[in-house]
Amino acid sequence: MTKRAYIFRNPWLYSLSIRLLHFDGFKKIKDIIGKEKNVFEPACGFGRLQRYLYDSCSYSGIDLNEIFINFGKKRGLDIRIGNVLEETNYIKSDIIILCDILHHLTKDKIQEVVSIATKFAKEKIVIMEPTFVGLASGKGFFSRLAAKVFARVDFDGINNIEHWFTRQDYQKLFKHLKETNKFAGMKIQISKGYYFVELIRV
Ligand SMILES: C[S@@+](CC[C@H](N)C(=O)[O-])C[C@H]1O[C@@H](n2cnc3c(N)ncnc32)[C@H](O)[C@@H]1O
Repeated sequence: MTKRAYIFRNPWLYSLSIRLLHFDGFKKIKDIIGKEKNVFEPACGFGRLQRYLYDSCSYSGIDLNEIFINFGKKRGLDIRIGNVLEETNYIKSDIIILCDILHHLTKDKIQEVVSIATKFAKEKIVIMEPTFVGLASGKGFFSRLAAKVFARVDFDGINNIEHWFTRQDYQKLFKHLKETNKFAGMKIQISKGYYFVELIRV
């Protein structure tokens, strides 16, 4: 198997890169999630998002990157090895977070993951995706160059990124996921280079 990109071999480097790109953009999650929720994160990495939640929330997650999982476990997090495409790995939770995972997956797999998450999310699914990846979606020289660079730098060792979403693609995708999974509501916010999308049950 081709080696993971550097950021997926070193949790410190991953954390630093995200901070440089988004500063404290993820602080927003606290209010989106709220207090006293149990939260489950498929593709949790090393559980980076746990520290943005209220102390009254519980947090658990799965990921296939054993370096990240071991790193998070050593810090006391309830995370384990598990594939996001296998339903048996999921646990019923108030809120399921899908952060920075959808653009790694093919369209079929996105549909599969969101449809599994829908069965396990009692209140809502919260999706976070970077807005800037559309830079790599064009046909021109710079877009193709960006696509090559992004694909290398963002290679998680599991998925080859086949498609870079433009803002329009993302809007269509979110609407499609809401409709096909029969969510009652959807709220989309854009902040500091990220989409924060809530697919709401009632
Ligand atoms: C960009 S990282 C995001 C990690 C975390 N959500 C965060 O925001 O810090 C994408 C993660 O998805 C994981 N991943 C990709 N495909 C997966 C799969 N099929 N099952 C479990 N984890 C997967 C990778 O190992 C990687 O840790």
